[in-house]
Amino acid sequence: MKKVAVGLIGFGTIGTGVIRLLRENGEIISERVGAEIHLKRIADIDIEKDRGIEVDRTLLTKDAGDILNDPEIDIVVELMGGYEPARTFILDAMRRKKHVVTANKALLATHGDEIFQQALSKGVNIGFEASVGGTIPVIKTIKESLVANRIRSIYAIMNGTSNFILSKMTDEGKPFADVLREAQQLGFAEADPTYDVEGIDAAHKLAILLSLSYGKKVRLDEFYREGIAAISEQDIEFARELGYRIKLLAIAINRDNSIEARLHPTMIPFEHLLANVNSNFNAFHIIGDAADSVFLYGQGSGMMPTASAVLSDIVDISRDILKGIAGRIPPRVRDEESLEAIRLLPFDQIRTNYYFRFSAVDRPGVLSRISGILGANDISIATVIQKGRKQGGPVPVVMTTYKARELDVRRAIEEIDRLDMVMDKTMLIRIEDDNLK
Ligand code: HSE
Repeated sequence: MKKVAVGLIGFGTIGTGVIRLLRENGEIISERVGAEIHLKRIADIDIEKDRGIEVDRTLLTKDAGDILNDPEIDIVVELMGGYEPARTFILDAMRRKKHVVTANKALLATHGDEIFQQALSKGVNIGFEASVGGTIPVIKTIKESLVANRIRSIYAIMNGTSNFILSKMTDEGKPFADVLREAQQLGFAEADPTYDVEGIDAAHKLAILLSLSYGKKVRLDEFYREGIAAISEQDIEFARELGYRIKLLAIAINRDNSIEARLHPTMIPFEHLLANVNSNFNAFHIIGDAADSVFLYGQGSGMMPTASAVLSDIVDISRDILKGIAGRIPPRVRDEESLEAIRLLPFDQIRTNYYFRFSAVDRPGVLSRISGILGANDISIATVIQKGRKQGGPVPVVMTTYKARELDVRRAIEEIDRLDMVMDKTMLIRIEDDNLK
């Protein structure tokens, strides 16, 4: 049987999963490919650590050069993460005509253009299914299955840790810090969990999806990002009362001449599928102009689910190697040469529905002052909730709005927060119900 030789750089959790999966399912994978996927070398700076898996010591090396310089290795699998030396290793592997598979979302979000160009100019493949949505085949769906569509919109839950925290806070009433600790113990939080709770991890993934679907790379600071750290149990309760669940949602909408892209905690109606994606699961609701709604759901992280995505890339590339072809499917939907810069809609021009929680002193006239300012800024109120009384002290006053413009909302909230009858910064959460069909 023919062999495809693979070199693995990075023997961490996913690397261990790849080795395990090759052991457990290697035979059926070989039958499906028509060749043996032969793991030839494994490089890591720490080759002593016990990963709970037996590995032939002669495969291990501390020097990634042993993989990059090995002419027999066809595919380099980069699972070390981080920017450098991962970027250099990938570019170097391609220079040596090796195909590359990576799960490195941060690297692709920031250096994707360079890496994809290198793949194109060297005539090699780059697989990155594991970089977004773990095991979920979202890259393949956008690049291949929906290739005949204009992507109208993508709504995605792509950070398992944030989703786990919000789900546990909502369903079990557990405090934020306790649930975050649990996510760390379960191993799906990033090494630095601020990447999860501040939305940086999901922003990396959104940047990849944007460039995949609409054009050249966008920088992270080009679209609005807000994490879940400010979400309180109180907001979760009010959301429930209004018929919503709060999710950290990544949004990309193809407007007439621009792309609306944003990532923030979002209230989603109970009955929408996305509102029912709980625990650490990820999901993608993609709307194509021909396909209409496509919904993908699954494990966005974890050793074996992510290894499954890595192996799917290895298999795709192996099949091409056996046919003597490369670059059949470009790194992004469009041919790299024809890519254009993405025109993003300025965030202050977006229009959506809003939830406000004001901390207002409980005295006559407060509601009319607040609603007066909202009205003057072209913001129409849909519902009002005020609960409890606290003579002289602040009470939460909750309002939701019909569709309003972000710029008007910001202006109104700034003015309201300056009122002496408002005791604390107003909490603002965007609601997707009209946009999200
Ligand atoms: N920290 C990430 C998450 C892991 O929680 O989804 C997968 O990228």
